[in-house]
Amino acid sequence: MKTGAIQFEPLFGEVDRNLELAGNLIMKSDANLLVLPELFNTGYLFTSKEEVASLSEEIPHGKTTRMLCDVAKDKGIFIVGGIAEKSGNRIFNSAVLVSPEGYIGRYRKVHLFFEEKLWFDPGDEGFIVYDAGTCKLGMMICFDWFFPESMRALSLMGADIICHPANLVMPFCQYAMKTRCLENHVFAITANRTGTESRGKKSLHFTGGSQVTGPDGRILCRAGEDSEETVIAQIDVKAARDKKINFYNNLFDDRKPEFYRSLAVERNK
Ligand code: ACM
Repeated sequence: MKTGAIQFEPLFGEVDRNLELAGNLIMKSDANLLVLPELFNTGYLFTSKEEVASLSEEIPHGKTTRMLCDVAKDKGIFIVGGIAEKSGNRIFNSAVLVSPEGYIGRYRKVHLFFEEKLWFDPGDEGFIVYDAGTCKLGMMICFDWFFPESMRALSLMGADIICHPANLVMPFCQYAMKTRCLENHVFAITANRTGTESRGKKSLHFTGGSQVTGPDGRILCRAGEDSEETVIAQIDVKAARDKKINFYNNLFDDRKPEFYRSLAVERNK
């Protein structure tokens, strides 16, 4: 199957413009599964709770999820994209997965980065693996990569491909994904944004470099740092199901959960 990351510069608050641009890029691309950046419809640098509330949408009834469903149906593909989700009086930094048949599911970002903690509620549904027919998909969002438990949990639950919408401001993730994929033998599609967002006195630069990473840690395709582009890699999903390292070692069978108990409990402070 062909998998890809769509990289562009969303403009803050210009939801219609961002949706149109993303829609055009999807329509022009040739892939079975495409991932869009984190908060691709709104932009990232919020300055108040009111602002986040006014730009967030319900899943699946909001216009962004509906637009993604329409494009997925037209193209006959699967799409993942990051949006701010309104749910009652809570707001999550979420990602949706849609298919040619419609909405499949969402992921609410668990590990909030920096001032996201001021604007969003931490994800309350954990990591979920969705069946996409020929493959199993997991989602995590940007800073979740910093916590190896995110991809480990998804991989142990059977994910073949980790869809990773991102708004990366540090340069490490693109390299770290080699290790994350290697230590779990899974594919990952990291879709990052580009550009510099300035709001009031605040400014953030996003590092581009969207990529598809293979289960052997190889980077299968990578976008430039500033370019609007879609990068696509042809992958064989079966490669993610083989957890053998060599004749004697298996990535999952060789785990020793009895010695990892401290991972599953709160740290003593
Ligand atoms: C990030 O999690 N957007 C850095």
